[in-house]
Amino acid sequence: MPYKEEIDIDRIPKHIAIIMDGNGRWAKQRGHERSFGHQAGAETVHIIAEEAAKLGVKYLTLYTFSTENWNRPANEIAAIMALLFDSIEEAIFMKNNISFRIIGNMDMIPENVRNSLNHCIERTASNTGMCLVLALSYSSRWEITETTRQIAKEVQQGKLSIDQITDECIASHLATNFMPDPDLLIRTGGELRLSNYLMWQCAYSELYFCDTFWPDFREEELRKAICEFQKRERRFGKTSEQI
Ligand code: IPE
Ligand code: IPE
Ligand code: MG
Repeated sequence: MPYKEEIDIDRIPKHIAIIMDGNGRWAKQRGHERSFGHQAGAETVHIIAEEAAKLGVKYLTLYTFSTENWNRPANEIAAIMALLFDSIEEAIFMKNNISFRIIGNMDMIPENVRNSLNHCIERTASNTGMCLVLALSYSSRWEITETTRQIAKEVQQGKLSIDQITDECIASHLATNFMPDPDLLIRTGGELRLSNYLMWQCAYSELYFCDTFWPDFREEELRKAICEFQKRERRFGKTSEQI
């Protein structure tokens, strides 16, 4: 049975986070440069964003470039930055009522790319459907370090007391403070790790790994992951009987 018919449309995960991995290997398999894989991966971003919006997902957070990815060869980094400048298709966002946002250290991003991304953020800001978030020059440890600095500063300035530092207080200082935690975390490309992605936020997320390389990940694969998610029992520390 196609997954489309199996999905319970009333229990769509509100927030899906994806580690889009496997672009380089996908390109290599085809005898191409790694950047060819990133280009194909950018097309998948638009296809999956459109499908997620249609299914009723509220937040889609895509790991696009990690803090550690700055250690890649300069030509690969340049190709990814160029793609961020060229291939964001605002028309698809407008058509699907998608608002666009970024989390990460934007100071690291070249100015022309930053400006073009900021324009897209501004122009889609009043869209009321799904929020598509790119994690760019992002890592959890960077985010938690920044948060810790900010909280320490507020304590120092007397704006916050130590007793006020709670789970909620920390969450409200993270880059993700405008969205709920991911219900479902998907990683494509076969690796079984988090690679410094949303480590605070994914404390209770359902994890889904698949071998498909990101450029080949299509609508049916997303629906399959959601069906798998819907079979899980989320207990949040309680017993099955309490749910
Ligand atoms: C993910 O694909 C995209 C980025 C990390 C920018 P990779 O480029 O990591 O592809 P593989 O894992 O080497 O195949
Ligand atoms: C994680 O993929 C980062 C992104 C998908 C942007 P990597 O390919 O960088 O992760 P590792 O190095 O295999 O852990
Ligand atoms: Mg990789």
